[in-house]
Amino acid sequence: MAKYYKNSQQQIQFLIDTLSITSQSKGVDLGCQSGEHLQKLQNISPTIYGIDLKKFSNLKNFYQLDFFREDIPLSNLDFAYCLSPYFDTDWWKIEDFLENVHSCLKMNGHFILDLFHYHTMKVGDKRQTHRLTKSEVTVSTFTREPDRVSLQRTIIRFDGQQKHITGVWRVFTQDELVTLLDQQGFMILHQYGDFDKNMPLDWNTPISETKRLVIHAKKYR
Ligand SMILES: C[S@@+](CC[C@H](N)C(=O)[O-])C[C@H]1O[C@@H](n2cnc3c(N)ncnc32)[C@H](O)[C@@H]1O
Repeated sequence: MAKYYKNSQQQIQFLIDTLSITSQSKGVDLGCQSGEHLQKLQNISPTIYGIDLKKFSNLKNFYQLDFFREDIPLSNLDFAYCLSPYFDTDWWKIEDFLENVHSCLKMNGHFILDLFHYHTMKVGDKRQTHRLTKSEVTVSTFTREPDRVSLQRTIIRFDGQQKHITGVWRVFTQDELVTLLDQQGFMILHQYGDFDKNMPLDWNTPISETKRLVIHAKKYR
């Protein structure tokens, strides 16, 4: 199971507290993957749904669909959340996603969007990480460009095979996020850094100190 956090139990507690989840809550996990957060929250409320592009047949209340291109078949929800999304080039169509999320929420419904905190990385900067296991070494280079961070990853297996992977994350400025969300009828309530610490986000905080950029918004029109 993929892990994007140090402590997923803390992320779940963050969702419960921030979204005031009770046994009556109706909500959706967007990009739920194997249901790490979803299944724990479904233990609190049976009306929490999961959506993912890929099929996860073990999950309850699950819809397999592309929320950039297909309508979310839910309405009047209390909340929606989307954690550690990876949207590739769809990042540049985020309006379609936000419109879809907006239409499945009730008025004053809440939305949590958990992004990576790349905006303080300077344009042109590169960061390299290395990971060593018994069978392979992975070298990842992240490069900041004006509107994105690009990833070049090489996996060298000790049996001689090599694999190259590329990826891209859009980097939003604070103004851009406020505008994009407002255009779709959302108002930002709070911004957080790392979930683990419920750290309020200061946009000037260096990336080394907070890996996340978590937006908590409300549908206000
Ligand atoms: C990086 S994983 C994060 C999984 C999980 N939310 C977590 O935090 O552990 C992103 C997930 O979003 C899903 N996803 C990406 N684009 C999607 C789309 N257009 N529609 C539905 N799911 C999507 C992927 O299939 C993947 O399971």
